[in-house]
Amino acid sequence: MQLIRAKDYDEMCAKAAEHVIRTIKEKKAPVLGLATGKTPTGVYRKLVMDHWQNRTSYRHVTTFNLDEYVGLGSDDPTSFHYYMRENFFDHVDIPEQQIHIPNGIASNLEQECLQYECQIEEKGGIDLQILGIGVNGHIGFNEPGTPFYSQTHIVKLSESTREANQSFFNSLEQVPKYAITMGLSTIMKSREIVLLVSGKRKAPILQQLLSSEVVCEDLPATILKRHPHVTIITDQDAYSS
Ligand code: GLP
Repeated sequence: MQLIRAKDYDEMCAKAAEHVIRTIKEKKAPVLGLATGKTPTGVYRKLVMDHWQNRTSYRHVTTFNLDEYVGLGSDDPTSFHYYMRENFFDHVDIPEQQIHIPNGIASNLEQECLQYECQIEEKGGIDLQILGIGVNGHIGFNEPGTPFYSQTHIVKLSESTREANQSFFNSLEQVPKYAITMGLSTIMKSREIVLLVSGKRKAPILQQLLSSEVVCEDLPATILKRHPHVTIITDQDAYSS
């Protein structure tokens, strides 16, 4: 794993955006894996700015988001669908049919998971996956204890994850209890991974991840140590606290 220590959040986002733009320029039909949460919002801002200033085009880009809450439709302002439109998709020239986000209100959720996994494969897999990390070490919504072989699946969210995501909702009760997430093996199949870690709140988990010599399901992000092409980009707050 390569570690890049950016001096602050803005520089971390700029470096992540560079990875994305490079992938788009290098590949004919790039496939991006995208994340939500507070951490990547600045990356989307940079990408939108670059799109308008430098005309980087998303016409040939396909995207797959990591996860979505079960029970929230795409028009719900607290859904990841909505987040992605608001922060990114509405501001670039990506064709609607090339955007993929799990459908949290599918009538058959198991089938939705299988179909999502197949769609990723049909597109030839993910070229670059952007990840954030939860304070308990989760990636996507793969909570501690999730099998490393997992594919896209339904997960019961831990209370700590629901609390961490509460700021997007009016109250803790409104935070859904279940989500659909790409599995750890889905994530590991990506050809390149960029993990973003920002802020003092994430310092303990980053420290644990960097110092851990074991790769174990109790700390899902340790699986990334087995991947040949991972870059961790961190800001000073996450690194030095
Ligand atoms: C959520 C998302 C993850 C994200 C994590 C950290 O649980 N499912 O993909 O990485 O939270 O979020 P934040 O960046 O807001 O700290």
